[in-house]
Amino acid sequence: MMKISTLNKNLDDYNIPLAIIGILENPKDDPIVYDEQSNLWKIIRETVELGDFTGKKGDLSVIYSKEPNGPKRIMLVGLGKPEKITLESIRKALGNASRKARDLDVKKVGLSVNHFTRGDFSITELSETLVQGIILGSYQDIEYRTKNLEKYKFIEELILFSPDYSDDEMKSGAKSGKIISEAVNLCRKLAWGPANYITPTRLAKEAKKLEEFGVKTTIIDRKEAEEIGLGSYLSVAQGTEEPPKFIIMDYGSEKQGAETVALIGKAITFDSGGITIKPGQNMEKMKADMTGGAVVIGAMNAIAKLGLDLHVIAIVPATDNMPSGKAYHPGDVITSYSGQTIEVISTDAEGRMILADALTYAAKHYQPKAMFDFATLTGAMMIALGEHAIGYFSNHDFVVDKLEEASKTSGEGIWRMPLWEVYDQQLKSDVADMKHTGGRPGGSITAARFLSKFTLDVPWAHLDIAGAMEQSSDKDYNPQGSKGPGVRLIIDVLRNWKA
Ligand code: BES
Ligand code: MN
Ligand code: ZN
Repeated sequence: MMKISTLNKNLDDYNIPLAIIGILENPKDDPIVYDEQSNLWKIIRETVELGDFTGKKGDLSVIYSKEPNGPKRIMLVGLGKPEKITLESIRKALGNASRKARDLDVKKVGLSVNHFTRGDFSITELSETLVQGIILGSYQDIEYRTKNLEKYKFIEELILFSPDYSDDEMKSGAKSGKIISEAVNLCRKLAWGPANYITPTRLAKEAKKLEEFGVKTTIIDRKEAEEIGLGSYLSVAQGTEEPPKFIIMDYGSEKQGAETVALIGKAITFDSGGITIKPGQNMEKMKADMTGGAVVIGAMNAIAKLGLDLHVIAIVPATDNMPSGKAYHPGDVITSYSGQTIEVISTDAEGRMILADALTYAAKHYQPKAMFDFATLTGAMMIALGEHAIGYFSNHDFVVDKLEEASKTSGEGIWRMPLWEVYDQQLKSDVADMKHTGGRPGGSITAARFLSKFTLDVPWAHLDIAGAMEQSSDKDYNPQGSKGPGVRLIIDVLRNWKA
């Protein structure tokens, strides 16, 4: 974990291995570049005047200083045109800078907050964003490697400098920035971990770790799930030897008058497809079919550490989806926790089976004001929106407003999809109350319509993160691997809940 601190000082005359400084496009016209009088800025002006550094978005230059009392290296980060600067553009620029810094093998990095204050935002927001850019962008997981470990560098310490702005504001932003980034990284680590390590049992253990921060956990195992009738969840779990865990986390139940919000995360720890087995190509990616569960565990971690004034319930139905002599079959009729019967068409449409019971469980036992589920639910979502947006479905405008607002503040792109009743035609069954799939047309929508039957009319949103789950190569603040999609979004929904 990176150590983060703040200093009410000027970075120019602080001896540190690397200083990161944000500079606008056309730096020759930037008054800040010419106002500063220290030796460090003389070197920066020389670089700018040579034209080597343009300040364009994505531009990065490292220059060296021989000043004994100043930074040894200076990394100039292009911020682009001033009118286009947003917190998200700063987060992206710093994400790229962080990997460069990490790979230079500097252990300690200083950031000049003064040289990023170019937009319409507070010092707290800016500090949070700067910290996020660095921690998120430099993330890497080497837990499963044994060779050449010295090749992998890590930034150990980050200091935010400003002689001008309130240390309290910087500190508060640095603190939330660290909590939120570490929550995203926890999600990424679990999501991208191999299925032989990240089992339902391991996820239950991760949930239990949150007890340290005041989260109460209840783990329902196979036997108890049978006793209480989680039939739809168990239909998927019946095919695997790996013990399933229906994980419940409860934060803030003691808070007087706090509203209750429920989070639900799909956690198929490996999705082979079951009897409707998937083709071998890319099947290894299905280790990440528990990303929704990891989002919820990550988010709960941050919610508890931030001490939000809310009652948050999180449910993570976890199981492998495997073919075996005990596995559920296409054509089976399953009785869900809600009592409604489901005709199974494809055992590969397992996510909605486990979510159905989790949604009903949350609605029935906690009567939340709203529910949010996160799921790598459909390949069709990847086809519809690609990797840059989370597609979501909602039955209630107030939930939509919360999400759209949080999308703006977090920078996570979301797009509302239709949840129209006419799509139910595709879910008509000849033998049961409904089928669980409706064919290829509108595959993400029929999946959402199916889920809507299990919400007991609680205001709800379903976020299909199948497209957004992965970053194929290092980009901005997302290194190759899991993006931890939706963690920052849902944290913003919850911390702005009353606003
Ligand atoms: N986990 C998959 C969806 C998925 C596919 C996520 C690729 C990420 C990348 C889900 O369980 C699934 O298999 N869905 C099927 C549904 C179909 C059988 C109706 C799909 O999308 O093909
Ligand atoms: Mn599947
Ligand atoms: Zn799946």
